[in-house]
Amino acid sequence: MLLAACGSGTDQSASSTNQSQSTLDPVLVAQGAQIFRFDTFGDETQWSDTLRMHEVIRTAVDPTTALSVGLKVDSEALPASVVQGIKDGSIDLKSPDTTVALLKLNAVVGLQGKVEVVNGKDTLTRVGVTCALCHSTVDNSFAPGIGKRLDGWANRDLNAGAIIALSPALSATMKAVYNSWGKGMYDPRFNQDGKNGPQVIPPAYGLNGIHRITSTGDGEEISYWNRYVGVTQMGGHGSFMEPRTGVSVTNGTDDQITAKLPALQAYQLSLVAPPPPSGSFDAAAAARGKLVFNGGGRCATCHSGAELTDANLRLHLPSEVVSEPEPNGAPSYASRSATGQYRTAPLRGLWQHAPYFHNGTAATLESVVQTYNTKQSLGLTETEILDLAQYLKSL
Ligand code: HEC
Ligand code: HEC
Repeated sequence: MLLAACGSGTDQSASSTNQSQSTLDPVLVAQGAQIFRFDTFGDETQWSDTLRMHEVIRTAVDPTTALSVGLKVDSEALPASVVQGIKDGSIDLKSPDTTVALLKLNAVVGLQGKVEVVNGKDTLTRVGVTCALCHSTVDNSFAPGIGKRLDGWANRDLNAGAIIALSPALSATMKAVYNSWGKGMYDPRFNQDGKNGPQVIPPAYGLNGIHRITSTGDGEEISYWNRYVGVTQMGGHGSFMEPRTGVSVTNGTDDQITAKLPALQAYQLSLVAPPPPSGSFDAAAAARGKLVFNGGGRCATCHSGAELTDANLRLHLPSEVVSEPEPNGAPSYASRSATGQYRTAPLRGLWQHAPYFHNGTAATLESVVQTYNTKQSLGLTETEILDLAQYLKSL
């Protein structure tokens, strides 16, 4: 329903595969929300036992530092006294003890901390991560980085590489790779294939009806990739095996992932792309841009159907796609994937998640259109380019 309401009215043929939002079991969706936000699948084994992140956080990461690397604080988890203390400055945002206190309140988005009293003092003894670390942000309604949760929105402020590089367990060479990624980027294959080519952290919303998951369409269902990330990236307990890439990982003997996958997927299917804020684009230009999209821009030859993608029908070879070669001499991302190809990206909610393309090579939607115009010799005029960008902002 919501998807249809903010639809642009282009060819609706691909929408027949949609599982409508209203047919999702609300109990399953609610369970999935808890898993998405708070479940580590036992990945403390990786983040605490191996990487010793709890030691770094409790000694060196004060809230100001945490916010500066893009970690977010859930204002709704804060009791009134803490809200007041932050406002009047009586709570010290330069002390790692405050970070431990926030973790004890379960207020740091995507981090789960175990806080125990050691020698009379609240001490962080274990820490793990959840899906929300990368795929949730907050609305900044209390302060920058502090607000209500926005699940499914990519955290483009998060410097995941810089956070991992704080681990005392890594070599200088590994730290250098992690520190090279930057904000909003993460390489979800580096620890499997040893190649360094960070990807933009994508939104986890707007995927209902799309049966090619990730930028390379590796899985037919979201659960495929959820299992991949849960096991191979987060370090959760369970197994992932993929003969097409040779990845085969089992953590622990107690599978803490498989039983949770249906609820986790239901929650993601319930997350719709956010409509553009009113006044954020020029409606008249967007209407003209839609004509370019369907006409001279030839965009609709691939970005077709309700979700503006032909992903359910076919994938595309790197030679057809304008976002390669990769920056910094990195190997083709498709070549590291299970399909060797790219999925036409769905375009709903584009306004929200710059930069664009799998590798983030286009900073703005104008730059996306310029790239197509140049690489595909479309011969669009300057006005058509601007109109088309306005249309993309309206989706
Ligand atoms: C450390 C950051 C990080 C964490 C944690 C993380 N992801 Fe992701 N996620 C990524 C990146 C980067 C990609 C892009 C992968 C690609 O396109 O090849 C991605 C891709 C996805 C996609 C594909 C989106 C699409 O457009 O097809 C889904 C769905 C997803 N993640 C869900 C999850 C879930 C559920 C969890 C928890 C089990 C999770 N992610 C944990 C970084 C993360
Ligand atoms: C040959 C098929 C094809 C055509 C034609 C095409 N696209 Fe794409 N588009 C793709 C693929 C594949 C991707 C994903 C590339 C990647 O992830 O790097 C993509 C990605 C994008 C993105 C980035 C989405 C994101 O989430 O980062 C935008 C925006 C976009 N296209 C707009 C357009 C516009 C505008 C046109 C017309 C000028 C167009 N596309 C023509 C296949 C196509």
